[in-house]
Amino acid sequence: MSNTYTQGMLRDGALEGKVILVTGGGTGLGKSMCQYFSELGAKLVITSRRQEVLDATAAEITEATGNEVLAISGDVRNYEDVERVIQTAYDKFGQVDVLVNNAAGNFVSPTERLSANAFNSVIGIVLMGSVNYTLALGKRWIADKHKGSVLSVVTTYAWTGSGYVVPSACAKSGVLAMTRSLAAEWGHKYGIRLNAVAPGPFPTKGAWDRLLPGDLKEKFDPANRIPVKRNGEHQELSNLCAYLVSDFSAYVNGEVVTIDGGEWLFGAGQFTGFSAVTDEMWDMLAAMRAGK
Ligand code: HXC
Ligand code: NAP
Repeated sequence: MSNTYTQGMLRDGALEGKVILVTGGGTGLGKSMCQYFSELGAKLVITSRRQEVLDATAAEITEATGNEVLAISGDVRNYEDVERVIQTAYDKFGQVDVLVNNAAGNFVSPTERLSANAFNSVIGIVLMGSVNYTLALGKRWIADKHKGSVLSVVTTYAWTGSGYVVPSACAKSGVLAMTRSLAAEWGHKYGIRLNAVAPGPFPTKGAWDRLLPGDLKEKFDPANRIPVKRNGEHQELSNLCAYLVSDFSAYVNGEVVTIDGGEWLFGAGQFTGFSAVTDEMWDMLAAMRAGK
């Protein structure tokens, strides 16, 4: 039997009646959560730049679950594309209940090597892409008096910052600020909820090939500095996301849920590196303290 955390958590039909739009839903973590949302009964709209990738994912999911998946290409940076994708979704399903801002772009680089356009590209995809979808869909929900909800995928360096991924850190912290700001503004006025998840390392082709190319995967294996000593499993993130987009989380608003096995706190705690002190060394220190 597999580990509990690799199994689906919510009850059958938990997302029935919902239409969920997932940006970047054709690959990686977006695809995994879409598979689970569909298994739980949701109808899906997936969007990203590559139509052929979206079509393949949509076909795979529908075959597995029998539930509809609409695949529409578009660039999250382009507001006209965003409005077109949303309109096509409404034409097909008559509603969109949940937005998942998952699309992202990122690369590792010393910051002084980046061009202004490189910065612009990541900020455009991550921050402006999330703003564009949230604004366009939010305006529709407000006009229709529909109490939709938004889930944004950020990272743990959204609040700590991180060297070598500075455009991404700036953009993700902006998405987190938008989430908390609108959870208060739109939550109070219109009943729209906004939350975020902050995953630690979850192996995907998109992130791993770009951020840990070549033998960096072995040299900087993130699992080495994670207290639970492993990378994340897609299903455990999908479980958390399914809960946050479901009505079971109706009282959760403006929250960012970290799912990283304790990774960022391990890096932050001043004395955590003392894990390297052996039992013999602790015995010696104790003896020294006792004046032996
Ligand atoms: C430095 C780079 C670069 C790199 C591109 N650029 N790659 N600079 N290092 N590795 C520069 C280019 O030279 C150009 O600047 C500018 O960025 C735009 O490049 P384009 O190729 O035109 O960009 P675009 O088509 O917009 O593609 C976006 C992209 C690409 C971000 C560059 O990597 C992409 O499409 N990524 C999508 C998927 C992805 O990144 N997934 C990972 C998400 S993981 P100039 O000046 O030359 O014009 C994630 C996880 C974090 O966020 C946490 C993990 C633990
Ligand atoms: P991924 O597979 O590369 O996902 C990124 C997705 O974004 C792709 O489907 C890509 O599709 C889409 N995308 C990129 N630029 C776009 C644009 N301009 N317009 C529309 N769509 C665009 O990587 P992932 O690891 O699954 O990442 C998913 C999310 O999790 C991201 O928000 C990432 O920051 C976050 N995250 C991941 C990890 C991790 O360890 N994997 C950790 C923390 C946070 P196209 O190329 O077809 O456009």
